[in-house]
Amino acid sequence: MTDHTVYEIDNSGIEPLSNHSNNTTFAEVMTQRRQFLKGSLSTAVAAFMGASLVGCGGDDDKKPAASPTPPSSSSESSSSSSAASSVAPLLGFTAIAANRNDAITVPTGYSATSFVPWGTPLTGTMPAYKADATNTGADQEQQVGAHHDGVHFFPMDAKTTGTNSSEGLLVMNHEYIDDKLFHKNGPTLGATRPADEVRKEIAAHGVSVIHIRKTGSNWEVVNGSPFNRRITGATPMDIRGPASGSAMLATKYSPNGTSTRGTLNNCGMGATPWNTYLTAEENWAGYFVNKDATQAREHKRYGVGTKNGRYFWELADSAADEYVRFDASTKGATAMDDYRNEPNTFGYMVEIDPFDPEARPQKRTALGRFGHEGVIFAPAVEGKPVVCYSGDDSQNEYIYKFISADNYYKATAGGYLLNTGVLYVAKFNADGTGEWLPLDITNSAFTAKAATAGVTFANQADVLINTRLAADIMGATKMDRPEWGAVHPTTGEVYFTLTNNSSRTAANIDAANPRANNATGHIIRWNEDAGKNSFKWDIFLLGGDVGTVTGTGDKAVTLTADNHFASPDGLWMDPRGVLWIQTDMSGSQQGTGPYGNNQMLAADPVTKQVKRFFVGPIDAEVTGVTGTPDMKTLFVNIQHPGDRSTPTSFTSSWPEGGGARPRSATVIVTKNDGGLIGS
Ligand code: FEO
Ligand code: CA
Ligand code: CA
Ligand code: CA
Repeated sequence: MTDHTVYEIDNSGIEPLSNHSNNTTFAEVMTQRRQFLKGSLSTAVAAFMGASLVGCGGDDDKKPAASPTPPSSSSESSSSSSAASSVAPLLGFTAIAANRNDAITVPTGYSATSFVPWGTPLTGTMPAYKADATNTGADQEQQVGAHHDGVHFFPMDAKTTGTNSSEGLLVMNHEYIDDKLFHKNGPTLGATRPADEVRKEIAAHGVSVIHIRKTGSNWEVVNGSPFNRRITGATPMDIRGPASGSAMLATKYSPNGTSTRGTLNNCGMGATPWNTYLTAEENWAGYFVNKDATQAREHKRYGVGTKNGRYFWELADSAADEYVRFDASTKGATAMDDYRNEPNTFGYMVEIDPFDPEARPQKRTALGRFGHEGVIFAPAVEGKPVVCYSGDDSQNEYIYKFISADNYYKATAGGYLLNTGVLYVAKFNADGTGEWLPLDITNSAFTAKAATAGVTFANQADVLINTRLAADIMGATKMDRPEWGAVHPTTGEVYFTLTNNSSRTAANIDAANPRANNATGHIIRWNEDAGKNSFKWDIFLLGGDVGTVTGTGDKAVTLTADNHFASPDGLWMDPRGVLWIQTDMSGSQQGTGPYGNNQMLAADPVTKQVKRFFVGPIDAEVTGVTGTPDMKTLFVNIQHPGDRSTPTSFTSSWPEGGGARPRSATVIVTKNDGGLIGS
């Protein structure tokens, strides 16, 4: 989460807007794509996608008719007993100093190049980016979105050997927009908003699928590839899992509560063991407004607006249904006559198959509804359930774990595994043990707690739509803003960043969140107790200035000028076991603290050696990192450079420089001698 700017206009007295027919933009885009697929590249695409193209109805959700027999027990997969090895040779670079440069800094012997900034033409008519921010909504729908965040590289052969390090699909999130920089003169505000500004803002959200290829030492976008795709805040998508079809999801658009339009505030992500992409919906609640005298609990507990949506999309002057839906106030006779339930169709992990350009995204309700930062999967084990973890990034919210009901088999694995299972929430005990508490209406421990609290749930859909309330009831541990997770590729040890928490007081510190007014954050980790709903945890690292100590005795580690950091956020354990830590300090923390600009550090999880590898430009967040399978190319995302700018005065001009409008972009990092990243 960052300091999202909220428009400050008085919208009192705005009359309810009437409904019109759906915006046809995306139907048109899909028609164009189908025509393209019939063209010259269709044979190659079919070869890549195999049978999935043949039956592409967008439903990758079918459980196979028969699964192989489990090897032995069907108990949960969990951490093995194997110990992690030090990755010291992969931290051979010379740590760089903190700095306040409007540039990317990497260690001596490394190079960094910006790539696919906001506005890069990607699909359709390939509209060129306009430096004065005068592109239209239709342009933006065919260009790379804004505010790059979570990112994953799927090698082109991901579904077979997964070793291709020179061609793949780079899939990334676009979290939000910077209102002051997004339009030439900033947003147009008044009793209504120009519909095309709204269309453009919605189109800059979501996900980009970008087919990229390495030629010589340069990476380039494969222009014209049918894999290139924009998924936005307006793309039709299905709602799957226990909440699908719930009356609480019924809207004028989807009276049976099985679909919705768009994904919003896409922050972190996760790659599934079957090579699909999950995008997280984080601070989605603020995009909506509900002016009813009393908000339903599934709105109030998440912070749905009471006066206006974050960007006033509900006031688009076309009054098109696509925009009216952001007003969740009760207007019609029933939920099927208005959008009172529209916010209930957001707050999920959304599955996208980048290798099937026509597949509709699937919202996976079994993973819960909250401010999903991202998701991270435990290593998949043949014949065992799928396990994944997700944090809810808000002050004093929780960390969750999902265990699938069905077992994983590589040959048949798919999104159906995320439709049925149990969602748990974490309780961290003071003695270093922890428990996973079930949020399951068929579990007597859950129903007993609900009864004690005097809270009723109609069914499991109600539980999941009110995940935060269900977790409250179970007595989960309130955390210092859980952001990304990472899992060790061989041991299964789990790491989570807790970015900071200004509301933590001395009176409510606990062992897992041990500092009052936690301004610099920390990283917690745990190992699962095999076959049980419990774990053992410790604090891996405390953020802070030079001299900050984590642990005691011979296990104590002290931060130095090579690695002091604050507000850890992005986290990735690469396939070799190097832990990459990214920071999201506020503008003032970067400007006045000792840490310089936001940055990325590399850590050895065994020795806790930590070295600063990367420093971002002015007023930017470093968020999202992935690599090629050979770990010789790293892709790092830079979000909101110059976010303290005004429409006429930019605090950064990265990546172009020379006073240009700052733009979020990806950074490609390589070692000049062609060696392994980190060495
Ligand atoms: Fe979008 Fe919690 O960062
Ligand atoms: Ca953050
Ligand atoms: Ca952010
Ligand atoms: Ca984040």
